[in-house]
Amino acid sequence: MTAAEVRSPLRALMDDGVRPNRLQDVAWLGEYLETGARAGEPILLSLGETWSGTPEPLLAALREVPADSHGYQISMYGLPTLRKALKEYVADTQRLPRGASWELAVSWTGTRSAMRDFATTLERGTSLAVAPAWDYSGVFEPLGFQSAYVPFDPAEQSGPSVEGARAAAAAVPGNLALVVINAQHNPTGANWSPELVEALIEIAIERDAAILVDDAYFGVCQTEPPPTSALAILLTRLAGEPSPVPWLGVRSLGKQFHCNGWALGAVVAEPVRLDDLVNDVRPQHTFNYAIHLQWAMAQWLADRPAVERYLDRERAETAEKRAAVLDWLPVGTRDRVIAGPATPYLLYPVPDDTGSSDVTAYLRRAVLQCGVVLSDAWPLARVGPTASTGYVRMYLGPGLAELRTARDRLADEGLWPSYD
Ligand SMILES: Cc1ncc(COP(=O)(O)O)c(C=O)c1O
Repeated sequence: MTAAEVRSPLRALMDDGVRPNRLQDVAWLGEYLETGARAGEPILLSLGETWSGTPEPLLAALREVPADSHGYQISMYGLPTLRKALKEYVADTQRLPRGASWELAVSWTGTRSAMRDFATTLERGTSLAVAPAWDYSGVFEPLGFQSAYVPFDPAEQSGPSVEGARAAAAAVPGNLALVVINAQHNPTGANWSPELVEALIEIAIERDAAILVDDAYFGVCQTEPPPTSALAILLTRLAGEPSPVPWLGVRSLGKQFHCNGWALGAVVAEPVRLDDLVNDVRPQHTFNYAIHLQWAMAQWLADRPAVERYLDRERAETAEKRAAVLDWLPVGTRDRVIAGPATPYLLYPVPDDTGSSDVTAYLRRAVLQCGVVLSDAWPLARVGPTASTGYVRMYLGPGLAELRTARDRLADEGLWPSYD
């Protein structure tokens, strides 16, 4: 039995009498399953999710949690053993300068909710991110912020230019409230240049805007050359002095350890601001749960050599899959494909010769005819008005055999790119 023939975990996650969520691709997936999944088990390459691949020692630790781990926690900063281990881990891996003024808390509700909590403390105005972007607008717009974007040529490997960032900020009328820095950029996979990060920080300081540093993919990025540490750049710029603008750093642990569902991550800020965030804002909606998950994560992070070995293996496998998929694409078109090094996504322009005039039509056919679920490169299109880049985003998390099956099914239906 090939990987793609194993019963998909999606079936159990979708098997209910209600519409599971409002995502268009999930609606198509439901239709595909209900009509008999004729091309075979669905292959989900839209969300960055595998449901498996979690480090074995992390799972083993979960089976050994102390019996008294099932109540509330006392500390709103998270379980002390995890908080301390995570603080060291973030300081070392993100190369944070000594003497800088920062503190760290564990988020047990993912990092998206920490971003939201941070935003509630800011004056309303416009948030600036690089396009295409992760769904920051879905967090900030409902709170009353507007969104503006630095235009990005997705084929530019080190991110948009400093001039482009400055021009986009200058075009924001009124209060620039927040600048988002996602230096290992989802969806393009670009590792931004330090110069771009520095420029975004200067823009924020000049305009009195808050800064959000989102390092969700820092641990996933290839390590040669070392990924740009936006947090280190920010702290170096502040040089141990109180920041003139509010800032928050977040780092999900879900991507790097294949445990998105554990909702653990790091939240970093200046000590006083962090204390307000965890002890004033966060308890307004959530107490501190999940000792068991935090205990297991602390055991895992304590074995740093094992963590590094696991991440090295993951990065090597992603690089191998990236190279394989690139190889399947027609020669002469690869300069229009965007592949890494910072995220496990590969972007290709929607093929012209498939009869699909736009990304949405292409994605629909890929699900309904092939059972292959891909996404628009701009996940904004998942929840809001379409702002398509013309690129399809393919997640490289599943095994190579499953990716090959996806390619074969798309090719059988004339949907695999040939462009020539
Ligand atoms: C760029 C980016 N930031 C933040 C998040 C949120 O991650 P988590 O919910 O694991 O904290 C994601 C998840 O998809 C992401 O891709």
